[in-house]
Amino acid sequence: MKKLMDMEILENIRIAKDVYRMKLRGEELCFSEMMAGCFLNIKVGTGSELLLRRPISIFDADEKEKTLSIIYKVVGRGTERMSGIKSGDLLNVLGPLGQGFPIQDESGRVLLVGGGVGVPPLYELGKKLKAKGMEVTTVLGFRDEESIFLREDFERLGPLYIATEDGSYGTEGYVTDAIREMDPSFDTLYACGPKAMLRTLDERYAQIKKGFLSFEERMACGIGACYGCMTETKAGLKRVCKDGPVFRLGEMKYDSVL
Ligand code: FES
Repeated sequence: MKKLMDMEILENIRIAKDVYRMKLRGEELCFSEMMAGCFLNIKVGTGSELLLRRPISIFDADEKEKTLSIIYKVVGRGTERMSGIKSGDLLNVLGPLGQGFPIQDESGRVLLVGGGVGVPPLYELGKKLKAKGMEVTTVLGFRDEESIFLREDFERLGPLYIATEDGSYGTEGYVTDAIREMDPSFDTLYACGPKAMLRTLDERYAQIKKGFLSFEERMACGIGACYGCMTETKAGLKRVCKDGPVFRLGEMKYDSVL
């Protein structure tokens, strides 16, 4: 199935401080290859400084409508340009790409942990896990109250705890502080966010829980061809874009990725 296509923008709206949600439609999208945690590599312009695509994870997918939604934060010229795109415009997209979160078949309790722009892919995952009868608890971390997004969406999945770095909402500190405070029970961990957050979770749970972590990495090709996103795991060097971005709890070697 074709992975490179022009998709029509249906919506591009601001949902929190510097954070936007974009809905795109593509008749040629391959939903059967799309696991929660897969990403799109989006061409954001034609100038020399915008030649590289931006990898952005999928927040929501609707196979019937042939639509995908993504959530992105404006952090530079590429994403700033994206924020100005209007409904009806076309965007060149490569995807879906990468290995997403495997979904275990057994029932049980899952803990979703997301930090900042690592939050969106956990929503699609949480919907699928809940549909399989799993009990979903979520812990999300943001900089401050103004930066919070998807609160109501995650609340529909089950208990939700939020940490903010400045203490303006929920637990003051990081997701790890909220987990320590709330002490949720769970069998399987799924997390996405900054490497420091993932490392802390890995060190705390790799010996005692099952789980999967999705890593953010600078990418160029996004399809495993340029070897620009290599990272060292306990099983050797791997490409974050093609072998990941999701890796098993306990699989990553951190000295090389921090
Ligand atoms: Fe090219 Fe991963 S970005 S191999």
